[in-house]
Amino acid sequence: MRSAAAPASVHVRAPGKINVFLAVGDVHDDGYHSLATVFQAVSLYEDVIATASPDFTVSVSGPDVDPATVPLDDRNLAVRAAKILAMATGYPGGVHLEIRKSVPVAGGMGGGSADAAAALVACDALWGTGLSSQRMHELAARLGADVPFALHGGTAVGTGRGDHLTPALAPGRFDWVLVLSDQGLSTPQIYRQLDEYRLEHGALADDPPESLDVPPAVLQALRSGDARALAEVVFNDLQVAALQDRPDLERVLAAGAEAGALAGLISGSGPTIALLCASADDARRVQDECEERGLRALHVHSAVPGARIIA
Ligand code: C5P
Repeated sequence: MRSAAAPASVHVRAPGKINVFLAVGDVHDDGYHSLATVFQAVSLYEDVIATASPDFTVSVSGPDVDPATVPLDDRNLAVRAAKILAMATGYPGGVHLEIRKSVPVAGGMGGGSADAAAALVACDALWGTGLSSQRMHELAARLGADVPFALHGGTAVGTGRGDHLTPALAPGRFDWVLVLSDQGLSTPQIYRQLDEYRLEHGALADDPPESLDVPPAVLQALRSGDARALAEVVFNDLQVAALQDRPDLERVLAAGAEAGALAGLISGSGPTIALLCASADDARRVQDECEERGLRALHVHSAVPGARIIA
């Protein structure tokens, strides 16, 4: 039960992510694929404000949010997070979750996962349930493969389904320009398309799952903080499948290179494009040039902390 000292509401901010490296292995019986990935949390955030309520309700707003694309029932990952926490701790009440979105919906940047991570942290504080970090991580992993990383933030290697995290050293700042799309992509569909593409092209035949690993060069580039070194090794196995659905994104990648980005890749399952830039000044120039070409572009940096309470 909530004590007399419990807050009336709790505000938590959680970041979106890009996968600077994403290798996809075999598909398993549960439909999930083995991954070897490196996440970086970027300075584009979801804000979740949790207010005590007898029921579980949610509202969603944001500069680019089409209300039709975000479910307000139990399919909403933040609502599921609150309910799973109530169930795990025996909390008898509910919560109203106000979600203010900045991470693109279905953009391949883990916006829904950030909502879920933020809801877990917010409800834990609001309800005084005092979950350990390990238990919080377990609940997060049940909600989705990217949810533990949204809790964790920073830079991390993800293995298994992407939910087994090992922190990685990346003390420097990296500047990115994100090019947003009006239409989202379905993550399960992009993974399925990758499987089909590999069946057709006989890929992976010489690449057993044991070889699924993050190359040392990726970790070295992150450790050194050298954007040029990172640009040489950014990689996304899902890119080929996302480009099948959205061949127009090839032009965006080319535009990014022409504008002076060091490298470009699709973020996660797409369609957001992440352009790596040499400096904050370069990123501003790349952003301006993308906008002059009629693209919607945002300048962000990595890496930033995971879900945390805002005073
Ligand atoms: O865990 P999450 O709900 O974010 O995953 C969405 C979908 O992405 C899964 O249902 C699955 O189809 C695909 N996926 C996958 N392998 C992973 C992570 C996600 O196939 N490791």
